[in-house]
Amino acid sequence: MDSPNSFTFKPFLHQYIFVFIIIFFTLAHQTVSDYSEFEACEPKTCGSNLTIRFPFWISGEQESYCGSPNFGITCNDQKPVLNISYEDYIIKDIFYENSSLRLANFAAYENSSPTPFYNLTLTRTPFNFVPSDTDLFFWYNCSDKPPEDGTYSISCGNEYSHYYSFAAFQKEMLVNYSLESCQSSVYAPLNVETGANLWQMNYTEILKIGFVLNWTALSCSNCEASGGRCGFDNSEFVCFCKDKTYQKTCDYGSTLNLGRKLAIGNTDLSIVLLLQ
Ligand SMILES: *[C@@H]1O[C@H](CO)[C@@H](O)[C@H](O)[C@H]1NC(C)=O
Ligand SMILES: *[C@@H]1O[C@H](CO)[C@@H](O)[C@H](O)[C@H]1NC(C)=O
Ligand SMILES: *[C@@H]1O[C@H](CO)[C@@H](O)[C@H](O)[C@H]1NC(C)=O
Ligand SMILES: *[C@@H]1O[C@H](CO)[C@@H](O)[C@H](O)[C@H]1NC(C)=O
Ligand SMILES: *[C@@H]1O[C@H](CO)[C@@H](O)[C@H](O)[C@H]1NC(C)=O
Ligand SMILES: *[C@@H]1O[C@H](CO)[C@@H](O)[C@H](O)[C@H]1NC(C)=O
Ligand SMILES: *[C@@H]1O[C@H](CO)[C@@H](O)[C@H](O)[C@H]1NC(C)=O
Ligand SMILES: *[C@@H]1O[C@H](CO)[C@@H](O)[C@H](O)[C@H]1NC(C)=O
Repeated sequence: MDSPNSFTFKPFLHQYIFVFIIIFFTLAHQTVSDYSEFEACEPKTCGSNLTIRFPFWISGEQESYCGSPNFGITCNDQKPVLNISYEDYIIKDIFYENSSLRLANFAAYENSSPTPFYNLTLTRTPFNFVPSDTDLFFWYNCSDKPPEDGTYSISCGNEYSHYYSFAAFQKEMLVNYSLESCQSSVYAPLNVETGANLWQMNYTEILKIGFVLNWTALSCSNCEASGGRCGFDNSEFVCFCKDKTYQKTCDYGSTLNLGRKLAIGNTDLSIVLLLQ
């Protein structure tokens, strides 16, 4: 500060004061206005009830950095839809408190005969079946007639076919039946809520009950508890807060010198310090 420059600037002190006033109002404005990533990652609803927040994000309505890559959902005619291994599932409920969600096959809502033709595979997804999930088995194109008891018959649209297709809960019901007479089979996951009377339902209604998956993702609870919203910055997990971006929570932890806005903020701060 003893350089000749600081001496030559002294006559222009009033200019510094002017600059200081501008900086003061810029900083004051920044603290009042909401940080743009915080705004962008505001939780949204899809349909009347379901709140979509981290790790989920609505593709086309929210920035992808507001959630984790595999958790993008589409809000399709007010129905939240998750696409897992090339199949669409309706999200019936999300339980953020225990990181799980209830899904149902989208076809059960669109189609009067929603027979699944593929097994749901969860490899390379962040989702997992939970222990209370069971299966509804589907067998297609069987040459032997299935027993009436304990099975749901499926009409595949071809009434004149001499093949049978059906669904059943337990293979034990079919001890005397030759499953080898069927051309293909599919296991549809199901998580029956207590009180459901399955025998009074047809398989479309049963598929609408859906199943539960849990998920593995970085926890947002500490960031949310501090008033923040989670997201990613250059693939790094961060906590967006009203003022700026933090590493973990809005209360503590180093702020990240990430955004351009923040870099300008630091420059302003150093000028203010220089003036004091
Ligand atoms: C909203 O929640 C209520 C009560 O939890 C439920 O009865 C209703 O079916 C839900 N509506 C939708 C569209 O999911
Ligand atoms: C699911 O997503 C894949 C690509 O990510 C797409 O090809 C497929 O059509 C989607 N499935 C449905 C039923 O929309
Ligand atoms: C999470 O909680 C909900 C509501 O209490 C429950 O229906 C669901 O089965 C739970 N998920 C797991 C994985 O236990
Ligand atoms: C059942 O057989 C019909 C005609 O033989 C065929 O078109 C259909 O794909 C088969 N379905 C399954 C699920 O194997
Ligand atoms: C299977 O066949 C055996 C012998 O005919 C019979 O005793 C048994 O009750 C049958 N089981 C079922 C589930 O129909
Ligand atoms: C579904 O999984 C079962 C059991 O692993 C298997 O026998 C069946 O062939 C699979 N179905 C299809 C359509 O891949
Ligand atoms: C299942 O039951 C519902 C309601 O009773 C009915 O609208 C639907 O057509 C039935 N579906 C099949 C495949 O029987
Ligand atoms: C999901 O459920 C499976 C089966 O119970 C369990 O092994 C796994 O730890 C759970 N994952 C999470 C993130 O809760």
